[in-house]
Amino acid sequence: MKEVVLKKEDIEPGKMKSASLGKIPIVVCRTKDGEFYAYANRCLHQGAPLSEGALVGDTKRTDVHGNYEYIKEGEILRCPWHGLEYDIKNDGCMLAEPDKKLRSFKVTIEDDYVVVHK
Ligand code: FES
Repeated sequence: MKEVVLKKEDIEPGKMKSASLGKIPIVVCRTKDGEFYAYANRCLHQGAPLSEGALVGDTKRTDVHGNYEYIKEGEILRCPWHGLEYDIKNDGCMLAEPDKKLRSFKVTIEDDYVVVHK
C-alpha cells in the first residue's frame, strides 16, 4: 500500500508536518538537504505527537578538554513532551537507547507529491 500524503512544497527543507497514512498518524520530515523521511507520529515514551516537537542537531565531543561540535543540524527530532531525541537519518533510532526505533515508512517523491509506503 502506498498513499500520497502531502505535496512536496507543503514542507520546507528543515521542517516537518503531521499527515496520515490510512489511519496511521505519521510525521513527515524534510531535511535541509531536501530528503524526506516518515515515521509514526508517536513518541516511544508516552506517545506524544512528535510533529509538535522540533528538528534540532546533536553535539559530539571533539577532545578530552570538553570541547564539542554541533552536528546533524535539523536531523534530530526532539519530542515536545520530555525531550527524547530520534535520529531521522538513522532509521528513527532513539539517541539515548539506539536499539529502540520509531516505526519508519519508505518515502518516494512522485511528480511533486510525497508518497509514503506501508
Ligand atoms: S512522550 Fe516523548 S519523551 Fe516523553
